[in-house]
Amino acid sequence: MSEDKALRLALAGKIAAGSPWRGAVEIVPRHEFLRGGYFERINGPGATAWSPVMPEDPPWLARCYDDDSLVTQIAGTIVPADIRGEILRSPTSSSTMPGLVVRMLDDLHVADGHRVLEIGTGTGYSTALLCHLLGDDLVTSVEVDADVASTARTALGRVGFHPHLVTGDGLTGHADGAPYDRTIATCGVTTVPYAWVGRSSAAESRS
Ligand SMILES: C[S@@+](CC[C@H](N)C(=O)[O-])C[C@H]1O[C@@H](n2cnc3c(N)ncnc32)[C@H](O)[C@@H]1O
Repeated sequence: MSEDKALRLALAGKIAAGSPWRGAVEIVPRHEFLRGGYFERINGPGATAWSPVMPEDPPWLARCYDDDSLVTQIAGTIVPADIRGEILRSPTSSSTMPGLVVRMLDDLHVADGHRVLEIGTGTGYSTALLCHLLGDDLVTSVEVDADVASTARTALGRVGFHPHLVTGDGLTGHADGAPYDRTIATCGVTTVPYAWVGRSSAAESRS
């Protein structure tokens, strides 16, 4: 068995046996969504610093299968390949910890044939889990950052998934692809945009 397969099975083993997403975690190679590296948090007395870890660095593969969020972009534009040493700015994109992704997906209560709108493609890992369970045609994912969206598209294609990917502000939903049976947001919001329950939702589009 390959090293990444063994790591993936170990990660999936931490997910509740009854979850329909456990099989997806066993199959979807998270490391393919982190080929651009990630930033490791450096704990110290001052402001939080971040240090890049690239695929050629020894801890990279194992860390890709830790149940941990991994930061992939800092300050809106900076990716791991841009940095030597440390950076003190704030994270702006990441691969969310798989256990949390699965809890959110469990809460979505999807069924076969459901059309899903995801807001916040990020690396594309959670998009890939959705594609694995539902099929590419039923998954639409919106990412506001063009560079992040492009990297996710490449990673998804590399592992054989081709969902509907949209570059834009997901706060306005994506009415063109409606109706959706489920909407999931992996980005932070202060209020629930009306578009998510109205224009981009199943209810209004069917009326
Ligand atoms: C935590 S990351 C997504 C994690 C991703 N689901 C994964 O598994 O890798 C959140 C993403 O949401 C994006 N984002 C933030 N605000 C957004 C918005 N209004 N519309 C679409 N995407 C947004 C960010 O650029 C970032 O890439």
